[in-house]
Amino acid sequence: MNINPLWYKNAIFYQIYPRSFYDSNGDGYGDFQGIIQKLDYVRNLGTDCIWLMPTYKSPLKDDGYDISDFYGVFEPFGTLDDLKQLFNEIHQRGMRVITDLVLNHCSDQHPWFQSARKDPNSKYRNYFVWSDTDTKYQGTRIIFVDSQESNWTWDEEAGAYYWHRFYPSQPDLNYDNPEVHEEMKNVMRYWLNLGIDGFRADAVPYLFEREGTINENLPETHAYLKEIRKMMDLEFPGTILLCEANQWPRDVREYFGDGDEFQLGFHFPLMPRIFMSIGKQDASSLVQIMQETPEIPENCQWSTFLRNHDELTLEMVSEEDRQWMWAFYAPQKEMRLNLGIRRRLYPLLDNDRKKIGLAFSLIFTLPGSPVLYYGDEIGMGDNINLFDRNGVRTPMQWDDTKNGGFSTADRTYLPAITDEKYGYQNVNVMQQEDDPDSNLNWLRRLIRIRKASEALGEGELEWITTGSEVKVLAYIRRSENDLVYVIHNMSDYPMHFQLDFEPGIYTDLIQPDFTIAGNRDTELDLNPRIFYWLQRKKSIG
Ligand code: GLC
Repeated sequence: MNINPLWYKNAIFYQIYPRSFYDSNGDGYGDFQGIIQKLDYVRNLGTDCIWLMPTYKSPLKDDGYDISDFYGVFEPFGTLDDLKQLFNEIHQRGMRVITDLVLNHCSDQHPWFQSARKDPNSKYRNYFVWSDTDTKYQGTRIIFVDSQESNWTWDEEAGAYYWHRFYPSQPDLNYDNPEVHEEMKNVMRYWLNLGIDGFRADAVPYLFEREGTINENLPETHAYLKEIRKMMDLEFPGTILLCEANQWPRDVREYFGDGDEFQLGFHFPLMPRIFMSIGKQDASSLVQIMQETPEIPENCQWSTFLRNHDELTLEMVSEEDRQWMWAFYAPQKEMRLNLGIRRRLYPLLDNDRKKIGLAFSLIFTLPGSPVLYYGDEIGMGDNINLFDRNGVRTPMQWDDTKNGGFSTADRTYLPAITDEKYGYQNVNVMQQEDDPDSNLNWLRRLIRIRKASEALGEGELEWITTGSEVKVLAYIRRSENDLVYVIHNMSDYPMHFQLDFEPGIYTDLIQPDFTIAGNRDTELDLNPRIFYWLQRKKSIG
């Protein structure tokens, strides 16, 4: 295992949704033993760290993000021993593992909430946020806009309203209660003691409420997050926190603190701009957001990503851009959800290797540790007829047998994709393993190349392209021993381009037979939607 304490700054993360990964016992649910069986596959992709989505006990009203026992495991996944074995087997293969930490809320089935709603004198009453009216905190937005009208729900039994930023089945915990602070730290200690390497911390902007604010990113929230980081550094040195804050770059910046809050933070605003740049054949919005992205502390890193288990969120774009994204990428209304798009990577980009290549190139060459979503490496499709976000959470397609080889059950938790273009009959791991040009082997190669370049992994970013219309997007990544010019032709026509290179011989890392002598005003011809990772040859002697 990479023992560099800053390993996470240059790592490939792979997100696993346990329910849909591999079912080892034929009950229709993915499980821990199933994941164990597929760990060699995950490692062979180039994964350094697995992000394991929620495995806690849950009534599944929000697919495991509604936790009814923070110390329990969801039974169909297996036992705690199975989970411990999974952690061990991941480590044995030289990978790390982080799990989801849901601080903001629990399930309404959690004994804390059950006791709180029943008994006003219960100590758990104060674990939640209650009110006699539903008019407090008016400045707060609603996140699940398609299905929720209020962040307050009346509870008959309690005779009061309770506060929730997500579904009513997910009451928010009350961070004004110090007992909640300790309670959640103990939950963290429990899992860290089992040997995990850290957490992907869910929905962190919403921990505290203060009248007259938007109730996001409050100073009190940052103070608590710093407190948990301090605990982790002291008691579990080397463990990491990855921040899910769907916010503007300047607000996410705050979650890195002075290097004493989160080590990693998803770059939410970049993600939709990658799709916009490819769709519009103009990367100006991407350049702009990257230029608005503040510097972060030395020990921190961005997490770049294209898709995940949620809708492709359009919260961090303007209304005009949102309408454009919907019209372009979600022409049918079933493709839309809340302020986003519930589709997978390959269908979004027309199954077109060139467009998908641009997208991966961007997350592999802009500063950050890329996070890949299971199934995107083989080009899985989606099923927009399924409820909520389930359409992008369907079973992993391992081979062309029943249920795509995911399960032998007659009925699986979610149906596997079977349509002609993306169904498991045609899109599956087994078939792609043997084909050197398959989506899987192509991506493996890209990952290998990215990992071999010091500059792409940890170099400084320098912009070459600016301007109001960016057809050719070019930037430099520079580290102590490595220099790479990254160039994308975003358009679908050939481009002729002049670039000032620092003198040297440059070789494309993707197509090593392409070599140029770089100098001032070097002329380049770029085919449509092509990208170069031009690395300067080291001078010999
Ligand atoms: C995060 C998760 C999402 C979940 C929500 C509430 O945004 O990614 O899936 O619904 O938090 O926990």
